[in-house]
Amino acid sequence: MTLRKSLVAALAALTPFVATSAVAASLTVGFSQIGSESGWRAAETSVSKSEAQKRNITLKIADAQQKQENQIKAIRSFVAQGVDAIFLAPVVATGWDAVLNEAKDAKIPVILLDRDIETANKSLYLTAVTSDSVHEGVVAGEWLAKNVGSKPCNVVELQGTVGASVATNRKKGFDEAIAKHSNIKMIRSQTGDFTRAKGKEVTESFLKAENGGKNICALYAHNDDMAVGAIQAIKEAGLKPGKDILVVSIDAVPDIFKAFMVGEANATVELTPNMAGPAFDALIAFKEKGTVPPKWIQTDSKLYTPTDDPQKIYDSKKGLGY
Ligand code: AHR
Repeated sequence: MTLRKSLVAALAALTPFVATSAVAASLTVGFSQIGSESGWRAAETSVSKSEAQKRNITLKIADAQQKQENQIKAIRSFVAQGVDAIFLAPVVATGWDAVLNEAKDAKIPVILLDRDIETANKSLYLTAVTSDSVHEGVVAGEWLAKNVGSKPCNVVELQGTVGASVATNRKKGFDEAIAKHSNIKMIRSQTGDFTRAKGKEVTESFLKAENGGKNICALYAHNDDMAVGAIQAIKEAGLKPGKDILVVSIDAVPDIFKAFMVGEANATVELTPNMAGPAFDALIAFKEKGTVPPKWIQTDSKLYTPTDDPQKIYDSKKGLGY
C-alpha cells in the first residue's frame, strides 16, 4: 500500500470515532440518581461519572435522597437548563407521566437506568437500560430449590424499596420459582428498603418471631447490602449464616464476596453497575444518526456462588466505587 493510501485508510478508520467524539463532547446529560442506599448504587454513580468522562460528556448528577419529589424537581431543573438528555433511575415505578411529558414537550430524550416505570405512554422515554429483574428473582429461587433438594425449607425475604420495579419483580420471580417446590415456603416477607441497617433490623425481628431463627432455613434479600445486614443479625443471634440459614441475594457487590470467603453467604445474582455506558452509546447514536434504540437494553444476570473464586472477583470489583 502507498503512503497516501495507508493515510486515507487510517483516516477512514478514525472518522466514525472522531465524529462520535465530537457529538459526545457537545452533550450535557442530567442524571436524576436515587441516592446512595446501597454499595451497588454508589458504584453506579461512580461508573456513570467515568463512562461520561471516557466520552467527554458533561454529566450533572442530582442526588434525590430516596424521594420521588426530589427526582421530579431535578428533572424540571434539567429541563429548565436545556440539557441534551436526562437519565432517570426511578425510585418508584408510578407517578412519572406529568414530568416526563414536560421533558418530551421540551424535546429532551429521557433514558431510564436500572429500574422501570409504569406508564401507558412508552414514548415518554427513549429506552430503558435495565436487567430482567423478574429473571433475577427466578435465578435466586432456582438456586435455592436446587440446593435444598427435597428438604422442607422455610424462607424469609427482605424486599427492596416498596413500589420500586425491581422490588416487585424480584419478589415475583422468586415466588414463581419456589412455587414449583412444595417443600419450600415463604414464611415472612418485609421491606428492608435496600439498606444494610434496615436489612439487619428486619432480620432481627424475623429471628425473634421464628424461634430465634431455628424455624428459618433460608434468607432471600433483594440486594446484597440487606443480606450483609442480615448476616450480622444472624451471627448476633448465635446462628451461622451460610450454614444454619442459607443466604441468597442480588447485586454481586464486593462485600458479598468477602462473606463467600468466610462461608457466610451462599449465592448472589450480579447486576452490573454500568448502566450509563450503554445509555450514552444509545444516546450518541440517536443524536448523531437518528438511530432509535430498542425500548429495552437488557443487561446480564449472572449467578455467583463461593465456587467462583470470590477473592478474584472481589479484587476485580473493589475499585469500582462500591
Ligand atoms: O435498582 C437496582 C437496585 O437498587 C439494586 O439492586 C439495589 O442495591 C439498589 O439500591
